[in-house]
Amino acid sequence: MALRTIRVMGDEVLNKVCKPVKEVTPRIKTLIEDMIETMYDAEGVGLAAPQVGILKRIVVIDVGEGPFVMINPRVLETSGEQTGTEGCLSVPGKCGIVTRPEYAKVLAYNEDMEPVEIEGTELKARAMLHEIDHLDGKLYVEKVEGELRDVTEEDEYEQEDEA
Ligand code: NI
Repeated sequence: MALRTIRVMGDEVLNKVCKPVKEVTPRIKTLIEDMIETMYDAEGVGLAAPQVGILKRIVVIDVGEGPFVMINPRVLETSGEQTGTEGCLSVPGKCGIVTRPEYAKVLAYNEDMEPVEIEGTELKARAMLHEIDHLDGKLYVEKVEGELRDVTEEDEYEQEDEA
């Protein structure tokens, strides 16, 4: 396994629409392992393949329940609303207020290309939707209410949910 370089806003790879994965080759398995390692190293709760420069529809997430991968994820259902602070590993040192659904149900494929339905509320829903946006070339900064602000020390102690 190896750490990959996280691309930051301004890198055009972050604005591209990613391609579906057809099969999980050994190369893709390695990419997934590297993404998980890179996410933990950066202390994020999620990471999408374009953030490490790969234009494929792959996401990894760990909101404290252990890591999972979503390949070719598709949002099946959302409901409710939550408003909270969001950050992104590709927008270092910044955060902003974003409103998203409170609940999301996603159909994706796991690392064995088996279909899985993943449900989440609160942070898990937020992380899944944030990461799926990355696969369509979208950053949370487009959805921020008001201004982006600098992450403070206080934020670091609370929860810095960068994805
Ligand atoms: Ni992000």
